[in-house]
Amino acid sequence: MHRAAVVALTSLFTALSLPAQSIQYIESRKVWLLTTSQSSYAMGLGADGSLRHLYWGAPLWRLDDLQGPAERRDVSSFDPRQMLENEEFPGWGGPRYYEPALKIVRENGNRDLVLKYASHRIQQDDLDIVLKDIRDEIEVTLHYRVYPEYGLLRRHATVRNGTATPVTLESAQSAAWYLPPGDGYQLSYLTGRWAAETQLNHEPIHEGAKVLESRKGHTSHNFNPWFAIDAGDAAEESGRVWFGALGWSGNWRITVEQTPYRQVRVTGGFNSFDFAYPLKPGESLETPPFYAGYSGSGFGGASRTLHRFERERILPGGSVLPGGATSRLRPVLYNSWEATTFNVDEAGQTVLADKAARLGVEMFVMDDGWFGARNNDRAGLGDWFVNPRKFPQGLKGLIDHVNGLGMDFGLWVEPEMVNANSDLYRKHPDWVMNFPDRPRSELRNQMVLNLARDDVKEYLFGVLDKLAGEYNVRYFKWDMNRAFSEPGWPEMAPADQRKLWVQYDRNLYEILDRLRARHPKLEIESCSGGGGRVDLGILQRVDEVWPSDNTEAFDRLRIQEGFTQAYAPKIMSAWVTDVPNMNGRSTPLDFRFLTAMQGALGIGANLNKWTERDSAIAAGMIALYKRIRPTVQTGNLYRLASPRTNDVTVNQYVAADGAQAVVFAFRHSQQYNTAAPTIRLRGLDERAVYRVTSLDGKLLEKQPQLSGAYLMRAGLNVNLRGDFDSTAVILERQ
Ligand code: GLA
Repeated sequence: MHRAAVVALTSLFTALSLPAQSIQYIESRKVWLLTTSQSSYAMGLGADGSLRHLYWGAPLWRLDDLQGPAERRDVSSFDPRQMLENEEFPGWGGPRYYEPALKIVRENGNRDLVLKYASHRIQQDDLDIVLKDIRDEIEVTLHYRVYPEYGLLRRHATVRNGTATPVTLESAQSAAWYLPPGDGYQLSYLTGRWAAETQLNHEPIHEGAKVLESRKGHTSHNFNPWFAIDAGDAAEESGRVWFGALGWSGNWRITVEQTPYRQVRVTGGFNSFDFAYPLKPGESLETPPFYAGYSGSGFGGASRTLHRFERERILPGGSVLPGGATSRLRPVLYNSWEATTFNVDEAGQTVLADKAARLGVEMFVMDDGWFGARNNDRAGLGDWFVNPRKFPQGLKGLIDHVNGLGMDFGLWVEPEMVNANSDLYRKHPDWVMNFPDRPRSELRNQMVLNLARDDVKEYLFGVLDKLAGEYNVRYFKWDMNRAFSEPGWPEMAPADQRKLWVQYDRNLYEILDRLRARHPKLEIESCSGGGGRVDLGILQRVDEVWPSDNTEAFDRLRIQEGFTQAYAPKIMSAWVTDVPNMNGRSTPLDFRFLTAMQGALGIGANLNKWTERDSAIAAGMIALYKRIRPTVQTGNLYRLASPRTNDVTVNQYVAADGAQAVVFAFRHSQQYNTAAPTIRLRGLDERAVYRVTSLDGKLLEKQPQLSGAYLMRAGLNVNLRGDFDSTAVILERQ
């Protein structure tokens, strides 16, 4: 390499405090050090050959500091040394009582599994460490991928049965993570239910185990596979935060445990509930990716790290352009669902399309009701043929019209489901997951097809491939409107039936991957009755997600606050809909717009009911959104005031190159004539001067230009009054 290039590279690494190699191994001490721009992670071999965790936190730089793991002694006959040793991937065997990473049963009933180091391999940013059982050829490869510039690690495991007899896995996790020893830690996590997803919880971690999980077959509304743990003193922009997220859209589990020995540990992967995965000799199972990172700058720092990583490394087509922007911004979308429900037809959709185009909409999506005998939710699901009464000439006429207006066309599908009253179910009743001679529970009058079956997978791929090929469909809204029940797979041998929990999702991912490969321009939205399928697994295959069926703007502020802890605003589909909405609440149209403009803006209102004034406001807001869209969708998000603890919500987005920033401010309910709090901005260049533009004159500072230092230290004041008042301020660096 040219000397100047070497110097330049070396100084780059110094600036990022990154060593030339992200993975270092010290043979003499058998220690591994994984380094990113924000963190270090160290492991070492114990004298007994077990692989032990050593360190996870802010960056270390001196290899000599790292000694092998301290050797422990049994504290008592009830407190064996194994409980203090922090094994990277403990099998269930010997005297180990915490959550194991792997639990097996051999054909002869022997269940003891003790894993020891066998070998390892380093290739650039990948480290594979092979562990083997002490007696037989049960082999586990731990995969570590370091993303040095993103500050993240990815872990998962491949479990291989190298013995001559079958073995069944009863728990297969992706990773165990260990916090620095101590107590006083706090856990943040996301809970919810239909129409109330991604609610942020924050609570002390006590001794015992807290389980975040899905047993429902999809990621679920109830918990989202994300966690953040802080040392008890972190805030939005300060303090130490360890965080992680699983990439799996089926049954998953994250167990957060504090042992009696002042150790917090997190184990996650496939849910072990109802889990049994048989491996014949030579077969293996790969567990889902578990991503994790450390932030020294609070929850905001943690989420910005995840957002950038998702945009650039998780989402399809996430190639990085100069300035850090990713290739495709999300279009402004119109969806007909709340306007028409099942009453779609060519004439009605054409009228809506004309109106949407005039507002500046870029993607027109026709929702449920266009196929089979789908006039309500009791019939037709499964029959993916255009309804000839509603669309006598097929969909071509409507799609051509939409395209002629300059918009792309999208279509709602719910491939995994079937109504009992459908041709598909009449023809293939065995395609539904079921236990023979047991009831088949219906929810929303529908049953779940067993996508683990290859014939079901091929059929659904064929249906979607045909739709995407026959019509100029550029977008599928892929819905999934119920959880699993009676998850039987009677065609398989009893011992293999529970493979359904894994194979269903593998096949779902395969269909999505194949569709994308065959139709490179096709975009996909993941919806599951709202935010029931949002995780880093599905996000490798879809472009955006529907966070909630609840589009009531005030509720959305909290849903969005929770959502953005883990997921990038770019993928957060957010619609403006009509009022009164959920809770019987009516918020002003500009409040609804500004709420939705903090993600991927869409309109779901009945445009036929809008007044001229409504349409004028909408057209103005959509034009504004297009001006700030790169900042919202690819910039850095600072959550300045939380709807949980304030009577205002304030969010600020700063463009990746720092040239633009946007502040959204919402007053919920003013009391005692109190002024809205001063907004101190973040993430600006203190030496720069910004041109300040108020959306609506509610900004009290009238100077047209302000410095970054003033904006971040003295701050802005906005005149927000009464109930559900809102405003936006745009800053452009001069
Ligand atoms: C689900 C979705 C809605 C809509 C309906 C259609 O509830 O979340 O947005 O698509 O299905 O039946």
